[in-house]
Amino acid sequence: MDFPYSRLRRWPDVEADNLQAHDATDLLLVERALALGIDGREIVVIGDEYGAITLALTSAGFDGVRVHQDLATGRRALERNAEELGLAGFSSHELDATLLDGARLVLLQLPKALAELEETADAAARWAAPDVVLVAGGRVKHMTIAQNEVLGRSFAEVQAQRAERKSRLVVASAPRPVPSEPPFPVVAQHDGLTLVAHGGAFAGAKLDIGTRVLLEVLGLDGSRLSMGAHTRAESMPEAADPADPCGVVNGGEPSPGPIAVDLGCGTGALAASYALAHPHARVIATDRSAAAVASARATTAANGVGDQVTVMHDDAGSELADASANIVLLNPPFHLGSSVHTGAATRLFEAAARILRPGGELFTVYNSSLGYRAELTRLVGPTEQVHRSPKFTVTRSIRR
Ligand SMILES: C[S@@+](CC[C@H](N)C(=O)[O-])C[C@H]1O[C@@H](n2cnc3c(N)ncnc32)[C@H](O)[C@@H]1O
Repeated sequence: MDFPYSRLRRWPDVEADNLQAHDATDLLLVERALALGIDGREIVVIGDEYGAITLALTSAGFDGVRVHQDLATGRRALERNAEELGLAGFSSHELDATLLDGARLVLLQLPKALAELEETADAAARWAAPDVVLVAGGRVKHMTIAQNEVLGRSFAEVQAQRAERKSRLVVASAPRPVPSEPPFPVVAQHDGLTLVAHGGAFAGAKLDIGTRVLLEVLGLDGSRLSMGAHTRAESMPEAADPADPCGVVNGGEPSPGPIAVDLGCGTGALAASYALAHPHARVIATDRSAAAVASARATTAANGVGDQVTVMHDDAGSELADASANIVLLNPPFHLGSSVHTGAATRLFEAAARILRPGGELFTVYNSSLGYRAELTRLVGPTEQVHRSPKFTVTRSIRR
């Protein structure tokens, strides 16, 4: 098949000469689907990073393919790539029954986290057709026996195929009976804070050590004390417009008062803690991962601050207006895919600089070995170190 894979772009995700918008696993999965010749309406694609699988199948005449992508960036890339190639006829879904109902072939790019794989495998066994075949693929160097074991909890037959072009497919069939309740989300208690996590959310329902350090430094941990910088938030006005409670979404009315943003919110630990400590504050939690967004919504609801926190599925807060926030809380990612790559953190520093009002504060926690202070000073404004241990550093940057 002659699909122009090289025309696909990763945008708005990080682009670089050594980063492509497709890989050999995409090609293997597409080849397998073409060989099986199943009706497009019975094919589901999960984890299609930039749309290569969905678009190659659509281009080959498979109509009605359903796709789930976790990342807002991947969803935008798929839309843009489809538009660029003039392709339509597929539909995007969350990881739910509408995605999988009646599916007979599920093509899966294996996720890194076993918990995400477990949630996905359970969803396929739960909602797809009884004769569904799940074909999971990955780069050989990232694949483990544990992935087969996880698939084996939801499927009676799991067979690894011969590796090709450094990728391998694993074929799972014969779905097992599912438990009455899905295994995710999971819930855990931490010193008065309840965390709820779907499989793909960073750190699961655990409180990440870096997050814990930031909460302690800000006085937002179990003690619920607040630092001087944050007591101003106590006088924040209540949200006015229920459709845009924070009044900062691009195109909305300007915010009548200060707000706090949890940028890259994961399960929403920072947003929920901030909201609990500042009952009158208006808080936005935003993440590019759908699993994180669903988790943060459940976390804020579980802590009784669901009305106070708006959770948004977005890339680097792109839907938030310039200069609209007073405080940004950030525990940035430092892994991109499987390689250490600081581009992802830089993107969030730039976003924080754009979202903050002049004089607004960015609190960042990061691994001390990363030394982000100079970059934060350059991109955001004067940056002081407010905590440092051999493991973690917390900085406060004032937007210039
Ligand atoms: C280290 S985790 C921190 C999660 C949470 N704030 C915490 O402290 O537990 C980083 C989070 O940033 C999110 N992220 C990475 N790049 C992003 C981007 N461009 N836009 C929005 N979120 C992003 C990831 O999905 C992940 O949930």
